Amino acid sequence: FGGDRHGGSGLRFTAVPPNTDDKVTVPEGYETAPVVRWGDPVLPGAPAFDFENQTAAAQAAQFGYNCDFVTFFPLGQQRGLLWVNHEYTDENLMFRGYKSGDTASEEQIRIALAAHGGSVVEVERVGRSGRWNLVTQGRRRYNRRVTAQTPMAFSGPAAGSDLLKTAADPAGARPLGMLNNCAGGTTPWGTVLSGEENFNQYFVNGNGVPEAQKPSLTRYGVSATTGIPSGNRRFDRVEERFDLAKHPNEVNRFGWIVEIDPFDPDSTPVKRTALGRLAHEGATTSLAGDGRVVAYMGDDSRFEYVYKFVSRKRYIPGFDRHNRTLLDEGTLYVARFTGDSPAAEIDGTGKLPADGLFDGSGEWIPLVTGDVSHVPGMTAQEVLVYTRLAADKVGATKMDRPEDVERNPVTGGVYVALTNNSNRTPAQVDEANPRPSNKHGHILEIAERRNDAGATTFAWSLPLVCGDPDDPSTYFGGFDKSKVSPISCPDNVAFDAEGNLWISTDGNQLGAHDGLFAMPVRGSERGHLRQFLSVPVGAETCGPLVSPDQRSVFVAVQHPGETNGATPEAPTSHWPDGGTSQPRPAVVVAWHRQGKKIGS
Ligand code: FEO
Ligand code: CA
Ligand code: CA
Ligand code: CA
Repeated sequence: FGGDRHGGSGLRFTAVPPNTDDKVTVPEGYETAPVVRWGDPVLPGAPAFDFENQTAAAQAAQFGYNCDFVTFFPLGQQRGLLWVNHEYTDENLMFRGYKSGDTASEEQIRIALAAHGGSVVEVERVGRSGRWNLVTQGRRRYNRRVTAQTPMAFSGPAAGSDLLKTAADPAGARPLGMLNNCAGGTTPWGTVLSGEENFNQYFVNGNGVPEAQKPSLTRYGVSATTGIPSGNRRFDRVEERFDLAKHPNEVNRFGWIVEIDPFDPDSTPVKRTALGRLAHEGATTSLAGDGRVVAYMGDDSRFEYVYKFVSRKRYIPGFDRHNRTLLDEGTLYVARFTGDSPAAEIDGTGKLPADGLFDGSGEWIPLVTGDVSHVPGMTAQEVLVYTRLAADKVGATKMDRPEDVERNPVTGGVYVALTNNSNRTPAQVDEANPRPSNKHGHILEIAERRNDAGATTFAWSLPLVCGDPDDPSTYFGGFDKSKVSPISCPDNVAFDAEGNLWISTDGNQLGAHDGLFAMPVRGSERGHLRQFLSVPVGAETCGPLVSPDQRSVFVAVQHPGETNGATPEAPTSHWPDGGTSQPRPAVVVAWHRQGKKIGS
């Protein structure tokens, strides 16, 4: 991507060694502290967290469970807002004696509904440091909880579609709540985009839907032959809409990108149908060369696709009323990746092909533009509601679980985290997904034609093939592998002011805990990956977010203590409160003790 060929990454920290400590570990010179934990009061008047006496009313006013995407909106120098997704609930860890959704109390089910969604919380800087604390006193005018029951709206070409209509909402316009919100992004006009990911797990009685609906149900991971799937939370016991035999379209009302205005706690979150329906990891925006808004998206399941949306109209700074319509009209594309090396050289060993790189060219295949479908046999509304089925028809490339996709604001490169794929067979490898039974995942870099996010063709390569650097199938941008950290299962990506790539992981298969890593993507340091932080027992690392002033990095520590068989009677983590406490998902901040830039 041109630019600085002499390094200049600004990364000088000493890597955190792989470890299994029940704490957040940061490099020498840095400190870390929780900012906000599951159960902390969000709305004024919310009760303090009490693990032994939980209620749904309290949870609906407190910070939710399993924090994931984190973003930060400064309010001057000393204050700011955090938006945080709450992806899902771990009832086995939340409630003593919990057996299953079948036997849970109705209050426990209501607590779980309230623990999903997202939170807006006000935070304040500690002195002049990079540390931030939750504001716990005063008006906190922006603080908000969004839950699985918050009234929302559909907008865009599929709003009002027959496929979205239910008995409770015959207009197909007013969905209730959001589920499994994983990663996300922000818009240039200051709103949040939050992705509904594995929404399939919340429904029962898929065997009771009309025959014609069964193929689409199955394609989205909902069984069309099972009544009550094992492990189901049984939300249907308190809200009938989760029973597909009675309300078959309710499932179509999840799996969207939700736009939320963090500065208006009374605003209605909007499900933007123009961005398609899939297991949305998240959506991140950039601007095309001509000012159109581009949203990059991954569908996080094995053999799913990478997407982007390009708005029809241009972003106009300051014209808020106009900008808030941009995500309702445009073209939704899906990616095809073509390798440039002979297929015989992609032999499944992970050995680099003769040209020295896993790389090639690609194209963005249009699926739908506004009300016009580009997919034979499907209407525009069908393409948007059954986007996976549409992408299947146009020859898109099946990837190793596409998670976060985000454009580097410094170089313009687009980075795709492909977390792993245990199911890829040797016969299914291709240059973009070159390893069978891909345990450790890889990062794919897209160079859009003319470095324009609005382009319809691109070049791509794999700058990072993850794993233990001693494993010959790994690749670290050509950097000396004796000097890099092991990494496994990249999930979220972010960038600092120098354009360094920050990667958080979920599901480390190398025997150590998940963490946060930083890697320059250009110059002589390209591929010099170092671990910056590690998380406690059972947790994955989410967020991450380097603050605009570069002095803080926020990380969501999701599901601490989530290990096989762990219960409140036998917890495997006591993070963050220590002693004999129960584990609590929490957002942490890390900062340099002397106020230096993150990564110094
Ligand atoms: Fe919820 Fe794809 O991670
Ligand atoms: Ca090649
Ligand atoms: Ca994720
Ligand atoms: Ca994850």
